Amino acid sequence: MISPLRTELVVTDNVPFGQSISGPAGVQRFYALTLERPAWKDWLPGQFIMVRPCDGRSSWARPLTICRVTSQSLVLFFRVNTDDRFASLKSGDRVVVWGPLGTGFEVRPGTSTLLLARGVGIAPFAGYADVHPAPSTLSLLFGHALPSSSYPVDAMAARLEMESMRDRTPEEQEEFNRAVCLKMEEYRARNGICLACGPMPFLKKVWKYALELDLPTQLLLEERMTCGTGACLGCCTLTSKHWPDPVRAGLPVQTCTSGPVFWAREIDLESPMPERNA
Ligand code: FES
Repeated sequence: MISPLRTELVVTDNVPFGQSISGPAGVQRFYALTLERPAWKDWLPGQFIMVRPCDGRSSWARPLTICRVTSQSLVLFFRVNTDDRFASLKSGDRVVVWGPLGTGFEVRPGTSTLLLARGVGIAPFAGYADVHPAPSTLSLLFGHALPSSSYPVDAMAARLEMESMRDRTPEEQEEFNRAVCLKMEEYRARNGICLACGPMPFLKKVWKYALELDLPTQLLLEERMTCGTGACLGCCTLTSKHWPDPVRAGLPVQTCTSGPVFWAREIDLESPMPERNA
């Protein structure tokens, strides 16, 4: 019997975005995969699902952050190699989905909320802008190496204030980092909150500055996950002394089962992981 969390869904669309990018991992591209809407009662932006194509050759599932959920569909936005099985999914194919899983981003309707995204980290903020009851309190700063047409920004631009910056070169990255710091200072002065998603070097910078400013900040650490179920132990995040359970403070927790969204002050992205038998 299929549990309420596990369901089989039909692919309704799989659209490549922007241009292909060649790198050490091969030729990659962004895709927006649309599935029929699952019968979920609730979900939170920042949560993820496990997805496995029903192609008879895929035995493992992949964690993917939820991009949007509409009345008709569930949309996922991700970057994969162009010869990956997720890139070749097409309308009518079927996938098995587990979810929604993990923790989601804080929604505070009366509070100025700064969204910081870099690259594919834009994905959860599309859904965040959709469900937020007061999108006029949201502001998004988005850094990206590829043209903005490579990302799902069109629908978001109509819902919230958005500033987008290219960060291809070291100079552009420096400029983006400066803009991130200025925005965080502005939201600290406004008693706002900050939510961030993107690659780990970017999140580490946001984490560090959030602690310096004492700006309430949440980080989505999706990059760390593989199995998504707590089984592989490959996704550990170190907690800080502010972790809600004092027994686990200063110890590693699994990102997939305790996160992937964490409050910055409750985790430590700088210290080395303790030795297993220490
Ligand atoms: S992703 Fe495998 S334990 Fe978390």
